[in-house]
Amino acid sequence: MIKLEEVTKKNYLNCLSLKLSKEQQGLIASNAFSLAQAKFHPECSPYAIYKDSKMVGFLMHCIDEDDNNHWIWRLMIDTNHQGKGYAYQAMMMIIDKIKEDKTRDRILISFVPGNKAAEALYKKLGFVHTGRYIDDEKIMQLKY
Ligand SMILES: CC(C)(COP(=O)(O)OP(=O)(O)OC[C@H]1O[C@@H](n2cnc3c(N)ncnc32)[C@H](O)[C@@H]1OP(=O)(O)O)[C@@H](O)C(=O)NCCC(=O)NCCS
Repeated sequence: MIKLEEVTKKNYLNCLSLKLSKEQQGLIASNAFSLAQAKFHPECSPYAIYKDSKMVGFLMHCIDEDDNNHWIWRLMIDTNHQGKGYAYQAMMMIIDKIKEDKTRDRILISFVPGNKAAEALYKKLGFVHTGRYIDDEKIMQLKY
């Protein structure tokens, strides 16, 4: 079973040890960077993704200060655990959680153009292209 748990002092070292291939490292900020960011941006919520008791990935939700929308700022699955449906399940979980917020109506996410896995994943989850970019990344959104 997949579950999301907040990153705390009990599990952050495990989170820092999650790995991506060399090629994938250019697609996303490191978990170390993201955890530093979360420390100074209280609007960010970092989550560890667990398969049973094993940490297999990381995601970071944020309510962006600029547009006041829900964003998934980071999503990664350790290279040894990719292709097993974990990112999809973790995203479904965070999306369900976000949907409880009736004061907002959309979730945004961005990816480096050419990141085919991310684009296919987000489409499968119902995200659509906005035609907009942020920091050279393509923005997709899911209205709820
Ligand atoms: C993108 C990423 C999170 C996907 O994680 P994952 O657990 O392997 O994905 P899942 O097994 O849940 O796959 C769900 C869907 O994503 C898409 N997908 C996943 N990997 C894919 C690949 N290598 N090529 C094409 N589509 C892919 C498919 O649509 C897949 O559905 P399907 O199995 O029915 O075809 C993972 O590859 C990763 O961590 N990449 C590096 C970091 C990154 O790019 N993060 C996104 C930043 S925006």
